[in-house]
Amino acid sequence: MSNLWSWFIIAGTIVSLIACFWLVAYANKQRASDAEIAESESHVWDENIRELNNPLPMWWLWLFVGTIIWSGAYLIYYPGLGGFGGVGDWSQEKQYSDEVAAAEAQYGPMFAAFGAMEITELANNADALKIGASLYQNYCSQCHGSTAQGARGFPNLTDDDWLYGGDPAQIEVSIVAGRTGVMPPLNAVFGSDEAIDEMVRYVQNMADGMDTSSPAHTKYMQLCVACHGPDGRGMQALGAPNLVDDIWLYGSSPTQIRKSIVEGRNGAMPAHGDLIGNDRAHILAAYVYSLSN
Ligand code: HEC
Ligand code: HEC
Repeated sequence: MSNLWSWFIIAGTIVSLIACFWLVAYANKQRASDAEIAESESHVWDENIRELNNPLPMWWLWLFVGTIIWSGAYLIYYPGLGGFGGVGDWSQEKQYSDEVAAAEAQYGPMFAAFGAMEITELANNADALKIGASLYQNYCSQCHGSTAQGARGFPNLTDDDWLYGGDPAQIEVSIVAGRTGVMPPLNAVFGSDEAIDEMVRYVQNMADGMDTSSPAHTKYMQLCVACHGPDGRGMQALGAPNLVDDIWLYGSSPTQIRKSIVEGRNGAMPAHGDLIGNDRAHILAAYVYSLSN
């Protein structure tokens, strides 16, 4: 706020407060005497409803005066008068950072203690799991779901199937550093729509054994094997999913499989290390680990 605006607002506020006070005092001075009130039958309706000019009761008047004094005191103590910060040195930012600092002082040592423990040990520690569950709801549930069972494109964290690996260290890396799955769009390398359909059918039936007689098998061995592996079981170093189980990240329908192949997929797990700190990530890794162990 520029100085000019600040003074403009200060002046406007103070003048209004004084005007309010003046109005209350003025109205009080003009109190009609009882005799005047009795005479002031300026308006009479139905012969017995009379409009009188009664003054405000005193307690009401003092309430007005009270609110004016309160406003003055408030504006001296708290910020509110233009750019003047108030003598109380209060601000939203300061209150927030004080609360954060207090929480850090209270919970920091506990997080650090948990941060130094093994994940497998933490996964059996009721206190750590309770904290992990509440951190999970805060930071992870919007994508992986409140029960951690995932949704299309967001992996289920409670089963035994892992894109990047389910041992404690891999889970922690997923959380701290994030992950990006890269399934390239392969539309261009198939000569025709039929060839793509054939590949979709091939992938759908892979779980029952690889059909080596299908032309799609040759294509698979050229185009897909590097990432999804010779047996279709995927590759955790790349986050390439297992194609021979019945767990699908994007869905098992021909439409979804086709879409994965034709358009590619780019699932992204955002890195959380900087956001939540390594100790919290460690506790979360233990919580996630506990969901399937
Ligand atoms: C460069 C490595 C790479 C190649 C080559 C590749 N994929 Fe993928 N594929 C992936 C990754 C990584 C994902 C997971 C993407 C994600 O996490 O968003 C994936 C996902 C998929 C999915 C979705 C699986 C699910 O659970 O929903 C299908 C289907 C698939 N690939 C089929 C194929 C086929 C068929 C080929 C060959 C024509 C192929 N991929 C080639 C890396 C690859
Ligand atoms: C913005 C959405 C989003 C948020 C928030 C998010 N994740 Fe993820 N997460 C994903 C996606 C998408 C993937 C899969 C990435 C891929 O397809 O390669 C994933 C992958 C993972 C994996 C690897 C799973 C596997 O099968 O290997 C773990 C573990 C994980 N997330 C845990 C968490 C935890 C714990 C949190 C909270 C701190 C969290 N995620 C927050 C979207 C999210």
